[in-house]
This record gives sequence, structure tokens and C-alpha cells, in this order.
Amino acid sequence: MSKIATKGWRYARSGPIGSTLKLEKFDLAVGKDDVVVKMQYAPLHRVDAAIVNGSALGRTKNAKPFPRIGGSEGVGTVVRSGNSTSVKEGDTVWVAPLQGTWSETITADSALVHKIDPKNAALAATASNFIVAQQLLDGVQKSGVVVQNGGSSLTALAVALLAKERGLTLFSTASKGDRYAQADARLKSAGSQTFEYSPAGARSLKAALAGKNVNRFLNGVGGNNFNEFVKLVGNNGEVVTFGAQNGFGLMWAGSNQIYKQLTLRGFYLPRYLRDTSYEVRQSTLDAVLKSISASGAAGKYPTEQVKLEALPTVWDKTFVQGGSKGIIQF
Ligand SMILES: NC(=O)c1ccc[n+]([C@@H]2O[C@H](COP(=O)([O-])OP(=O)(O)OC[C@H]3O[C@@H](n4cnc5c(N)ncnc54)[C@H](OP(=O)(O)O)[C@@H]3O)[C@@H](O)[C@H]2O)c1
Repeated sequence: MSKIATKGWRYARSGPIGSTLKLEKFDLAVGKDDVVVKMQYAPLHRVDAAIVNGSALGRTKNAKPFPRIGGSEGVGTVVRSGNSTSVKEGDTVWVAPLQGTWSETITADSALVHKIDPKNAALAATASNFIVAQQLLDGVQKSGVVVQNGGSSLTALAVALLAKERGLTLFSTASKGDRYAQADARLKSAGSQTFEYSPAGARSLKAALAGKNVNRFLNGVGGNNFNEFVKLVGNNGEVVTFGAQNGFGLMWAGSNQIYKQLTLRGFYLPRYLRDTSYEVRQSTLDAVLKSISASGAAGKYPTEQVKLEALPTVWDKTFVQGGSKGIIQF
């Protein structure tokens, strides 16, 4: 076991990010099999704040002992390849899902480190959003109709870009508010019409569907309006829940589910990645990066680029206001 000196945002107990995360210099313990990566980019996902405050991950037995490093995804350059047979020193790599990417240097199990084209380094900082989008659309027939909520999210934009590439019909919904207009413009350019995430929006979407049934409803938001949109899902349709940004429960009419024989399933990226072979993960990553970069829409989602030291300056924008993705640029 050797050690490498680094600097990053760590927390010694769960709590609000503003009071628990500290920028510290510390030594990283490096096991003989570990891959060591010098970071280039790491995103601030909404779930990262929940991990730090303990409402996500904190109670699982997989959580690392304190002190923990914040962040869960990133891109960097390999400085030590450990036991990896897939990456070598100097390669640009994507690492996720990992507990701790908000640090100048990180260590990772080689199973979590994937080589990428250096020209996709900035794009791949949020590759998890693209893989989620790809999986949410997996198995939808070409003639299928898909509805998604959470239209202001990066994931929703990726869903729209991938749906367009596959020729699917996609309708999006987004919450009324500051983020709506920008989301509407982005999704329109990706070929998807946007409706308000409200009972009135559900009525407008019903009219736009003109009798067509929705085959899959992608739920990243939940909340009070969930049931209004589930009502539009047709017989044997599927509802995939992957996020719960609004409210805590899903209230939906049992009779609707029964008569239409709807399926409600969940999707959780860390589990998908864990249960998928390295080769399939690599090919999935390569495919989504190719599609998203070819769409030319890579730069359309607003980002707040920030240096490691200045991380707190984008917390409020990223986690409270929303509508943009914070990205640490090392
Ligand atoms: N299951 C998984 O493995 C997995 C993996 C990655 C992400 N996710 C989830 O996928 C969803 C989208 O992720 P993302 O990284 O693409 O999100 P993002 O770009 O940060 O977008 C934020 C999302 O949260 C909603 N939201 C609700 N309250 C908000 C607030 N106060 N501020 C900002 N946004 C708010 C927005 O809905 P409106 O459009 O209605 O405003 C939007 O859908 C999230 O729920 C996230 O937790 C799940």
C-alpha cells in the first residue's frame, strides 16, 4: 500500500453540503491493484448532495468509512494502471459510479475505469446521464410513443436526442417555472414537444396524442402530477421510475393500473452498471458518447464550470435553482 498526496472536498459526517464538505489536503491510500486517475472533470449531480447529507447511500452498507470524498462520476487521465488490462498510463478515462471524484487525484477499482476518446472528455463528465437515457428507451418499438417528465434535466435532453436518432415519438413535460422556457427550446430543437407538468399540461398532451396510446412513461420527478400523466399510458404500457425530485411518494390510481395491466419498474444506474459486464458497459458508453456528440447538441445544456477550490460558488445554482449542471474543471 503506497500513498499519494492530493486535495479534494471531503466530509467526516453526513449533513448539509455547506457545513460538512471541507477542502482538504490528504494522502490517498493506493492498493497494488488500484487505478490512479488525475481528474480533468467531475460533475455535481443532484444526488451527490443527497449522498453527502445522508439521505442517499448513507444508510447502505456499501458506503465507504469517513472521511469520504464527495462526487460520484468524472473523467481524467490514468497515472497508474494498477491491475487493469483495459487502460494504460496516459489514457483518458471515464470513472463511475465511484464514491469520491471531487479530488485532484482519485483511486478506483479497474472495473470502474473505461477508456474514452480524449476529444469526448468534457462530454463524458456526465456520461451517466446519457447511459440512463439510453437504458430508459431500451426496448421501445420504433412506432412507440414515449412521455417523459423532468424535461429541464440533462437526462431529458439526452432522452430526446436518442429518441430522435431512433425515430421514436417523444413528448416531454417540465415543471412550470424559471427552467421551463429554456427546457422547451432545447427539447424542441431535439424534436420533442414540451407540456407543463400539471393537470392542464396533461389535458393538452392528451389532445396532442390524438387517441394514440403512450407505451412508456419515464418518471424522473414523481409528485402530485404523476397520476395525471400515467392516465395517458395505454394498455400493457410501462412506467419506469428513475428519479424522485418532487415529493416523496407516488400516488396513482390502482384501477388504472389494473385495467390497463400497466407495469411499474425502477431503474438504478449503479445497479445496472454493476450487473453488466465490462465489455457491455464499454460498448454502451462508446455508443452513447458517439450519438450525443454526433447530435451536435453537446453544448446545449447549460453548465457552470468551476475550479475545484470554488466548488461552493455553484452549489446553490446547481442544487437549489437548477437548470444547469455544475462541472468541476481541474
Ligand atoms: N436512477 C438512476 O440511476 C439515476 C441516475 C442519474 C440520475 N437520476 C435521476 O434522474 C433525474 C435527472 O437527473 P439529471 O442529472 O439529468 O438532473 P438535472 O439536469 O439536474 O435536472 C434536474 C431535474 O430535477 C427536477 N427538479 C425538481 N425540483 C428541482 C429543483 N428545485 N431544482 C432543479 N431541478 C429540480 C427537474 O424537473 P423539471 O424539468 O420538472 O423542472 C429536472 O428533472 C434526477 O431525478 C436524478 O436523480 C437517476
